[in-house]
Amino acid sequence: MSPLSERLPNMEFFIDSADIEAIRELCSFLPIDGVTTNPTIITKSGKGPQQVFDELCEVLTEDQKIIAQVVSLDYEGILEEAEKIASIRGGKNIVVKIPVTREGLRTIPAVKAKGISVLATGIYSPDQAFWAAKAGADYLAPYVNRMCNYGDGIGQVIELIETLAIYGFEAKVCAASFKNVDQVHQLLAAGVPAITVNPGTIRDMIDHPGTGIAMKEFTANWKKAYGRTSLQ
Ligand code: G3P
Repeated sequence: MSPLSERLPNMEFFIDSADIEAIRELCSFLPIDGVTTNPTIITKSGKGPQQVFDELCEVLTEDQKIIAQVVSLDYEGILEEAEKIASIRGGKNIVVKIPVTREGLRTIPAVKAKGISVLATGIYSPDQAFWAAKAGADYLAPYVNRMCNYGDGIGQVIELIETLAIYGFEAKVCAASFKNVDQVHQLLAAGVPAITVNPGTIRDMIDHPGTGIAMKEFTANWKKAYGRTSLQ
């Protein structure tokens, strides 16, 4: 078994969205591990942050993680907002997203010291991710599609997973920022330990037109032969 596949049993799949209806829909038929948001995602919902957090608590079970981001960019602000976010749902399965800026990296150990789980976000290079792992982050979120604008984003994320394994860092890559199924597919095939994907791309992973055509054909043939659309 490769170091990548050894991580598969703990694999987590999150929805990257604050669209409550889309989250409800996908959670109704998929084993989703939680939801990630960021400031832009929350503004796009057309709702205030408190309403979004309240609705997420309603729709998700306590076993599903809520992963939300600080907005402030200074040390004190990040620390204060991290504590506020960590108090959502009594702190049960809450992860705070902190950017990998200088101030963010400085804040990660302080947030961890308060017993709060951290996802280091806004990662554009494996080197930023390395420092976030060394600072004690639980998750590292490379922005895959945005990294692909500059080069081999997929390859860099795979290299990052391998680097973390070499050092035995506990930090888990949570690949983010996807624009198509192929990007998701390549990282799943490489054994990415966690991933967060927007609802549209998750639907595209499942709703292959060929499957619908095949099922229609089976039903039509069955009906023609037996005059019904069920086994008996
Ligand atoms: O949540 C962070 C990440 O997923 C951002 O994605 O689509 O804005 O590049 P995107």
